[in-house]
Amino acid sequence: MRILILGSGGREAAIYRKLEESPEISQLFALPGNAGMKNSLPGNVEQLPEIANVALENKIDLIVVGPEVPLCNGIVDYFEKHHSNIKVFGPNREAAQLEGSKIFSQKFMQEYDIPVATGTECNDLETALQAIEKHALPIVIKADGLAAGKGVSIHHDRESAISRIQEIFTDKLFGDAGNRVLLQKFLTGTEASLFAICNGEDALILPTARDYKRAFDNNQGPNTGGMGSYSPGNHLSDAHIGFARKKIIQPVLDRFKYRGILYVGLMVHSEKANDLSVIEFNCRLGDPETQCVMPRLEGDLLPYLLWSTGENKLVTKVREDGFDRLPVKPGVTLNTVIAARGYPEKYAKGLAIRLPDKNTEGVHIIHAGTKFNETGEIVSNGGRILNVVAQAKTRTEAKSKVYQEIEKLTANMNFNEFIYRTDIGDE
Ligand code: AMP
Ligand code: GLY
Repeated sequence: MRILILGSGGREAAIYRKLEESPEISQLFALPGNAGMKNSLPGNVEQLPEIANVALENKIDLIVVGPEVPLCNGIVDYFEKHHSNIKVFGPNREAAQLEGSKIFSQKFMQEYDIPVATGTECNDLETALQAIEKHALPIVIKADGLAAGKGVSIHHDRESAISRIQEIFTDKLFGDAGNRVLLQKFLTGTEASLFAICNGEDALILPTARDYKRAFDNNQGPNTGGMGSYSPGNHLSDAHIGFARKKIIQPVLDRFKYRGILYVGLMVHSEKANDLSVIEFNCRLGDPETQCVMPRLEGDLLPYLLWSTGENKLVTKVREDGFDRLPVKPGVTLNTVIAARGYPEKYAKGLAIRLPDKNTEGVHIIHAGTKFNETGEIVSNGGRILNVVAQAKTRTEAKSKVYQEIEKLTANMNFNEFIYRTDIGDE
């Protein structure tokens, strides 16, 4: 089979690395890829006809979509209509609205009795200002559309909520993504991410992972795409997962015949199985969680991707109490992200990347924002640049391996130009 992965980050590079193991794959490509993905082809993940041309030229059988934008733009529907012999892994445009529109997602959850914070839909500035007057504090404000992870803010006083609402509606802070806004009740608890791979009727649970969103140690600094992760995550019990499978994932399957990855962002309120709420749905895998999830999967990933697109009926499942999951290797993975200094705000690109000749045992480096420059050297090409991933028996051991490897990197590279967190895995 010939596979094309869409995207250029650590998530896509981790999927690429996992699929390199697959005996059924004769050619693996990435578009646009990065310096860590061998067969990277030029292109833009948002240009569907351009992607179709690349896929046809390279006789692609299956496209694996990493980021949400092509899914929300309807890449699955596009290929079904114009090139139905090329399969695309992911949900169709309607189902991808679960991530693409917070209001769509809220309405769906309310209709299907899925536990979610109460919300108020605001279609204009006037309605939003009135709703803020009546809303209990703190107030959660969510821009309706895709805002690259920046669309949510939490306000402990009305003045800051009002000023944010004005920025969204009047100054168009998020462009059209802020044409509508959802106000939500503030939830407390522990956040956890649950990933399921779905085939329209059934869902299999992937390994859990914990993500560190803030830029600096001790969860300080601005929110980022994610600065590190480990798997398994320690906040979701099997009882929580069983409840989520039945009460959250099943309604998504029933309503959308959902295919691809369903990422359920949860707030876990207590140890009781049913004491959790959905914070958000995403229609793709998480980054940097995937970098920890992929190495833990036992066996070949390809059969599951084909199962999801309807090409393969039988896959190996492990039955737990209340849910089925993919077979998983024992042990723990941990990933620390090396980012450009200044990320997620202003940062330089083109920074020199020099990787060690030999990695610490059990460690591999996954590229994110990297590329080859004109003279063939690896340079940075984004905010998050490298993922240092370790596999070990325990989290403590995995952490120690990751930071040993980072020591090696700091000897080779100018670390005045980079940042990383030193506390990944501590809690
Ligand atoms: P989202 O993009 O919806 O996942 O929101 C981004 C982050 O905002 C989440 O990871 C939570 O930390 C926080 N958040 C979102 N909704 C709520 C809520 N209703 N209550 C508390 N925190 C929230
Ligand atoms: N790591 C969070 C996300 O991928 O949305």
